[in-house]
Amino acid sequence: MEGGEKPELIVNGKRLDGRDFGELRSLKIEAEVLKNADGSAYVEWGNNKIIAAVYGPKEALPKHISDPDRAIIKCRYSMAPFSSLEEHGRTGPNRRATEISKVTKEVFENVILLDRFPGSEIDIFIEVLQSDGGTRAAGITAAAVALVNAGIPMSDVPYAVSAGKVGDKIILDLNKIEDNYSDADIPIAISPRTGNVLLLQMDGSLTKEEFKQAFNMAKEAGKTISELQKSALVDPYRKLAEKYKV
Ligand code: CDP
Repeated sequence: MEGGEKPELIVNGKRLDGRDFGELRSLKIEAEVLKNADGSAYVEWGNNKIIAAVYGPKEALPKHISDPDRAIIKCRYSMAPFSSLEEHGRTGPNRRATEISKVTKEVFENVILLDRFPGSEIDIFIEVLQSDGGTRAAGITAAAVALVNAGIPMSDVPYAVSAGKVGDKIILDLNKIEDNYSDADIPIAISPRTGNVLLLQMDGSLTKEEFKQAFNMAKEAGKTISELQKSALVDPYRKLAEKYKV
């Protein structure tokens, strides 16, 4: 939350960017955008621009961190110094980036079939090039696509989105100004096949009823996000098929 006077976030029943309460920002996902990574994805989510890159499975190094029974995941979320005009300089490995890296790692520990790769590591890098609220959710959504693109076996392809509260209204997919001045913000990551909740954080407070509404809104939006993830993953193959006219 930031100091200063709180702006009106809802005017005449619409949000400042014209969205309805349950409306997602525009979302574009592209897979296989980096030549040197085993898997990658690029996401434009509203004004967020994020790249995810995956390397591995490869031998876990240094040796003492390796697990003889399963692969370990290393995850680094990072904001580029130019990703946000207002708070540039507060980038790099700070407390926030460390926290987001940790919760993102935990999301994927619950879906990647780690026991298939004993002694290995899988590296996930999330680089935020431009940020406008909801970057952890966008980063998880991008990383899920990058992992599939790298051929890493998972029980599911998770997605993430945030929901929150402004006054007595529940809203979906908060942008930065909404994130800063809302009464609550809850990033949620879900495994769509099982419905398992892989990440749930909360800044602010909600009643039980409000929480249910926010959660259901995020779940409903997940159908759209999952579809975009799938079609991003199929696209490189579609392009290959077109190129070779198969
Ligand atoms: O990005 P997310 O909503 O997951 O995390 P947050 O900590 O709630 O941050 C909300 C937004 O504030 C980010 O998306 C950025 O746009 C902005 N922010 C920033 O510009 N500089 C920082 N050091 C931290 C956050």
